[in-house]
This record gives sequence, structure tokens and C-alpha cells, in this order.
Amino acid sequence: MTGRSAEAPSAEASERSSDPRLLLRLTVNGAEIEREVSPRLLLSDFLRHELGLTGTHVGCEQGVCGCCTVMIDGRAARSCLALAVQADGATIRTIEDVASADGTLHPIQQAFQECHGLQCGFCTPGFIMGVLSHFEEARMPDLSEDGIREMLSGNLCRCTGYQHIVAAVRRAARLMNLDGPEKG
Ligand code: FES
Ligand code: FES
Repeated sequence: MTGRSAEAPSAEASERSSDPRLLLRLTVNGAEIEREVSPRLLLSDFLRHELGLTGTHVGCEQGVCGCCTVMIDGRAARSCLALAVQADGATIRTIEDVASADGTLHPIQQAFQECHGLQCGFCTPGFIMGVLSHFEEARMPDLSEDGIREMLSGNLCRCTGYQHIVAAVRRAARLMNLDGPEKG
């Protein structure tokens, strides 16, 4: 065994332990948070491990699956693609802030439940945050089959085959009066 191979891990460990800590101030689900964090810490890990907000799921960790979607300053974003320090000063909303404080589901959550828009549920927080962001941004969302599938295109689901998720989005739009005047 060479001295070099024996030393490499401890050098790496010592680099990790000597990481500078940067002060991070942000608002998460209405609470002002101030923490010192490593500049390498991902936003998804900050939310899950530092704040205990484990409703934000982590699947691919490379921006593909959408499971880690949260809202940053009102827009859907993948928290696995951002460093926590990049969110300094931002307002973050996670799935934990979507239902009412008394536990009443948000209409989008209610629609997913009613329409069986989930099976294992691993992807669900990401879908909910993506749809919520879309509904809050677009006053008149495109609720055609193609429009809804386009809306959902940033999130992957391994279980449902998407049909029930599409139905859930349409139902959520109805519950939120986003689908225009009721016909008939
Ligand atoms: S975990 Fe972030 S996109 Fe998959
Ligand atoms: S419900 Fe299982 S991955 Fe979507």
C-alpha cells in the first residue's frame, strides 16, 4: 500500500470538515430561517436534513424526475439543482405549506385524492408543487389534454400511467374555478 492511497481519504475528509460556513437567510413556508451552511449543500438536502421538511422528495438528483420541486419566489424549481446558498434571501414554499393549518387539503391535493392521481406517492409532492405554480402563474391554464400533459411534462411518475394525474389536474381546475364558467 502506498502512502498516497492511504492519505487521500483523510485529506478529503479534512477538506470537508474545513468547508467554510456561509450564513443563509431565507423564508421557508412563512418562517424566517437563518443558518450557517456549507456552500456545497444542496437546497433539497437543506430542506430535508436541516429543516426536516421531508415532503420534498429526492429521486434522480440530476434535474430529471421533478420529485424535488418546490416553489422559489413563486415559481416551480428543482431543489436538487440549486445550492442552498443560492436561495439566500428567497422565499421558499414546500409541500408542507400547501394544505391548511387545520389539515384541510388544498383543492389540488383533494383532486389527486379523488381522482386516484397517485399510487406510491413518491412523485406526488413534485407534481402538486408544479401544478400549483402553474395555476398561480397562468390565470387561464390550458386544460386541453395536450395542455395538461405539457403542464406535467417536468415530472415523472413510475406508477400511474399519468391518466389519473391528468384527470386530477382537470378536477383541481374545476375545484378552483379555473376552467371557465360551468357549462349547462
Ligand atoms: S431529484 Fe431533483 S429532479 Fe429528480
Ligand atoms: S405514484 Fe409512484 S411514482 Fe408516481
